[in-house]
Amino acid sequence: MLHIGPFHADCPVLLAPIAGYTDLAFRLTCRAAGHTGLAYTELLHSRGILEGNRDSLEIARISTDDTPCGVQLYGNDADWFCKAAQWAEGIGAALIDINMGCPVDKVTKTNGGSMLLCDPDRTTRLAERIVNSVRIPVTAKLRLGWSECAITAPRLARQLEEVGIKIITIHGRTTAQRFKGAASLDGIAEVVAAVARIPVIGNGDVDSPEAAVRMIAHTRCAGVMVARAAISRPWVLHAVHGRLLTGRTPPEPTVLEKIRLIRLHFDLMRRFRSDRMAMIVMRGRIAAYGTSLGHVKPFKERIRLMHSPADFEAAMDDLERGVEPAWTSVPHGVFASRTSEQHPIGTTEPDFAICT
Ligand SMILES: Cc1cc2nc3c(=O)[nH]c(=O)nc-3n(C[C@H](O)[C@H](O)[C@H](O)COP(=O)(O)O)c2cc1C
Repeated sequence: MLHIGPFHADCPVLLAPIAGYTDLAFRLTCRAAGHTGLAYTELLHSRGILEGNRDSLEIARISTDDTPCGVQLYGNDADWFCKAAQWAEGIGAALIDINMGCPVDKVTKTNGGSMLLCDPDRTTRLAERIVNSVRIPVTAKLRLGWSECAITAPRLARQLEEVGIKIITIHGRTTAQRFKGAASLDGIAEVVAAVARIPVIGNGDVDSPEAAVRMIAHTRCAGVMVARAAISRPWVLHAVHGRLLTGRTPPEPTVLEKIRLIRLHFDLMRRFRSDRMAMIVMRGRIAAYGTSLGHVKPFKERIRLMHSPADFEAAMDDLERGVEPAWTSVPHGVFASRTSEQHPIGTTEPDFAICT
């Protein structure tokens, strides 16, 4: 159980913000695969939102079926940040997350993202303004510091707690590291130790229930956030949660269940974005999804070369027909205990209410 200001989340496993991936369609796909915890939009430029940038508004789309979901904002200017936070509160965000970890030049050149790690006092004042501008909880996602010689996260996290930030997520790498090397469990543990009352969520390299157990045991963090592993295996969040809750890892979905999940993801993209966007995204994603489907090279090639949603359906139908009966006979895993009302897999027209 995570205590986040006024509300409690029953699941300590969070879906990370991942630019280019965690849009509404993908978050709902993860939920259909059993994820019940907190999820985030990808990072959104606070000014871009307010200026009505079409891409930003697409990415900011949230839904009442996708709760709890936070909107992640980046920027450097307190006025823009506060107005964007109020806008997100207005569209129904459960919370606002401040991006303090993005290492990408486009973001750091505007003094946003992980540049905020470099001046903890100024960043704390910025966070305080944002906290005071909305009624919903505000959280922050940090890296350990700009570089190994500039580890600022423990101090910054402590200060952020004092001004009312409700969760700290710490990715156990520095900005200079980007994604190199292993995430530092000791670094995460230092941030946990620096903070007195609010939950600290550990992030970095959690790709299995075992990795989550290891991180929590080593760092005493209150929960874990999963990013890259969810891209190819949206059910990994449910697997991690099951393991943390019961000590046992739920069985992996059957191949047929995975196929249905991919179909659902495609349908949701068509519904919330467009046919064109669904095809562009799925052509790029199929390699990741394919890693857990066995030997499906010709199928992946068909998806990469598809020209229409009908091509996608035909390829999926053929894949489904080729699945061995033993893989499909007994539904188990994340879908076994759910009715079609509880999750949209297997229904042709999931009924998702859109907030914006
Ligand atoms: C393609 C990509 C996009 C990302 N976009 C964001 C983002 O929008 N906001 C953010 O805070 N972190 C972002 N991250 C960082 C992840 O949220 C996470 O901190 C990092 O990938 C480590 O977790 P993992 O080992 O589970 O992948 C991104 C990472 C990747 C690989």
